[in-house]
Amino acid sequence: MTPLDKWSVIAGEEDWIGRWTQSAIYPTELVFFLAFCEGAGIKRMFESGRYEGYSTERLAAYAEREGADVHSVDLESFPDVAQRGRERLSRYRSVHLTKGNAFHVLGQVVQSHPDVPAALVVDGPKLFGAMSVLFAAAAFPWIRVIAMHNLDPREQPEAAAFFTRVAGRPRYFEDEATEADGPFARLRAAEIERLSPQVKRPLDRSSLAVLKLDDAVRDRLRWTMDRRFGWHQPPVLHWRWRLKYVLSRGGQA
Ligand SMILES: C[S@@+](CC[C@H](N)C(=O)[O-])C[C@H]1O[C@@H](n2cnc3c(N)ncnc32)[C@H](O)[C@@H]1O
Repeated sequence: MTPLDKWSVIAGEEDWIGRWTQSAIYPTELVFFLAFCEGAGIKRMFESGRYEGYSTERLAAYAEREGADVHSVDLESFPDVAQRGRERLSRYRSVHLTKGNAFHVLGQVVQSHPDVPAALVVDGPKLFGAMSVLFAAAAFPWIRVIAMHNLDPREQPEAAAFFTRVAGRPRYFEDEATEADGPFARLRAAEIERLSPQVKRPLDRSSLAVLKLDDAVRDRLRWTMDRRFGWHQPPVLHWRWRLKYVLSRGGQA
């Protein structure tokens, strides 16, 4: 069984479609991401943007099965939503939650958990804000996979073209060869049927862009600058994170 089939079956058994909450990443997108991470040997998940914790709980499912852990950051601007998320996630010992702005706190979280092959998925901030955080984090060598939500080339052509130009073409679940009546195809059909009445985002294609990093890409991303990053230029953000971390440890790198 391929990792994509395996995670599709798990999604079906745990009814990821029935548990889906508005504005969360779709089950099929998460299945693809987790299968990709399994293939890349990922043992740690960093997340920015968890809202009510739907995606975080799917990362927890990965952590439980693959011996990994999860570190999730969110602004928690809506206390009720955040509290529901925290309650939902409290039963997972492998999940660690931080309240804060990713531009300020993610660097600390990532640097406090080095040395294990890790993935970073960003679903808030969005677009160039997301790329800023991803590119700044890509310079840490233990980040092996990056993923960005809402990077649909048809809906966000400018951001998608920029990502592809500097990082290379990301992967979407459409890139996977799947059997016409295999577990992933069945999950997709069920997702379209059951979620269509309630969703605001198209269901007919993926918007979760996933990329495996190599040294050449890592090096390119860490020095990427553009006016659209505004105050959050990736190299500056990276070095701010580094400095803050060193200072927090009393000057020790
Ligand atoms: C679409 S929701 C995330 C949904 C979640 N990933 C899921 O699939 O269930 C976006 C979240 O990003 C968070 N967010 C936006 N900007 C952020 C920032 N700069 N730092 C941390 N979190 C941020 C918001 O607070 C919100 O909870």
